[in-house]
Amino acid sequence: MLAGCGRKLLLSLAGSMLTCFLVLMVDQPRGPGRGLGPGGGGGGGLLLQPFRRPGAQGLLRRLRSGAPAGQGAGEEVRSFSGYFGQLSRGKRDAGGGGGGSASPAGGQPPPPPPAREAISPRDIFIAVKTTKKFHKARLELLLDTWISRHKEMTYIFTDGEDQELKQRIGNIINTNCSAAHSRQALSCKMAVEYDKFIESGRKWFCHVDDDNYVNVRMLVKLLSSYAHTQDIYIGKPSLDRPIQATERISENKMHPVHFWFATGGAGFCISRGLALKMTPWASGGHFMSTAEKIRLPDDCTIGYIIESVLGVKLIRSNLFHSHLENLHQVPKSEIHNQVTLSYGMFENKRNSIHMKGAFSVEEDPSRFRSIHCLLYPDTPWCPLNVVY
Ligand SMILES: *[C@@H]1O[C@H](CO)[C@@H](O)[C@H](O)[C@H]1NC(C)=O
Repeated sequence: MLAGCGRKLLLSLAGSMLTCFLVLMVDQPRGPGRGLGPGGGGGGGLLLQPFRRPGAQGLLRRLRSGAPAGQGAGEEVRSFSGYFGQLSRGKRDAGGGGGGSASPAGGQPPPPPPAREAISPRDIFIAVKTTKKFHKARLELLLDTWISRHKEMTYIFTDGEDQELKQRIGNIINTNCSAAHSRQALSCKMAVEYDKFIESGRKWFCHVDDDNYVNVRMLVKLLSSYAHTQDIYIGKPSLDRPIQATERISENKMHPVHFWFATGGAGFCISRGLALKMTPWASGGHFMSTAEKIRLPDDCTIGYIIESVLGVKLIRSNLFHSHLENLHQVPKSEIHNQVTLSYGMFENKRNSIHMKGAFSVEEDPSRFRSIHCLLYPDTPWCPLNVVY
């Protein structure tokens, strides 16, 4: 069906800076009368609908107000691809700032500039995705370092029971998802993360992996430059251009679609306002069926829902870092300004932040302990009088 957007392929493509070329098998609706929404033919069917004049936002408003989705039949019915055609895909600033959201349909005024809103750590829901195999190898390091300071805002999403871990952190959620590193298993976890965030009532959803260090001070500072009621999706794109996908309209009719997505490996955040708009495609079982329908991994699917379906643009930030970039390039003097950091393998070489610091590379290969002592020198196990 699909020319592969498996995680492995994506990673290797990202590594070689090529474009991930996808073929999305998005069927064209057979008629204009099919419902759009949770009641309309199941989650997967959501993607098959034409977009009408007011764009997805208008449809969502209608859904929320309880009006039947078939209403407004007199409005111009647009194909999915016509809708995409309207989205301006101009060059974006590389700097990480940039506008908030974009209106998908023409004729609407551009949104006002982002409003600022002071927040505290407890306004943020940080979902850490892990798997039982890595509770010892990866999670303990996070619990010793950044999570130790921010237990209240951090939720661990895993796939197996672990009583020992439960004693160290209360917010541990067994998703009951498969422990396989398959697209389905990853989407299953993301779906549970989304539902738990909505349930939590917090203002911001942030997703990270179990190889990410989160600098919560900078995360709070970054998110405080927006309002949680606005449509905000912020992170680092894993490619230097949008994903190109091909939408199948009918047997022999294909249309290209493009969208950016924030790579899950670097972490990303979504405002509550935007997360609520994602509900028809992301809540309950819908995230899984959206991901299945387009056959994309979890982070691609998030980008797809936000950029392609809702017409909200990713805000690019260089403050998020995954192990798929050369972490040696983060200057020592800038470490304290980054939002997320990572470690791992990149192009077959060990990849980590390059810094002297409290511990040697042998003692602290990820550099997370040294980074933590740099950011929180009052930590009891950090050596005193280290010159950084
Ligand atoms: C996983 O299964 C357990 C036991 O059946 C249940 O209590 C728990 O709520 C499930 N977790 C989720 C996220 O559904």
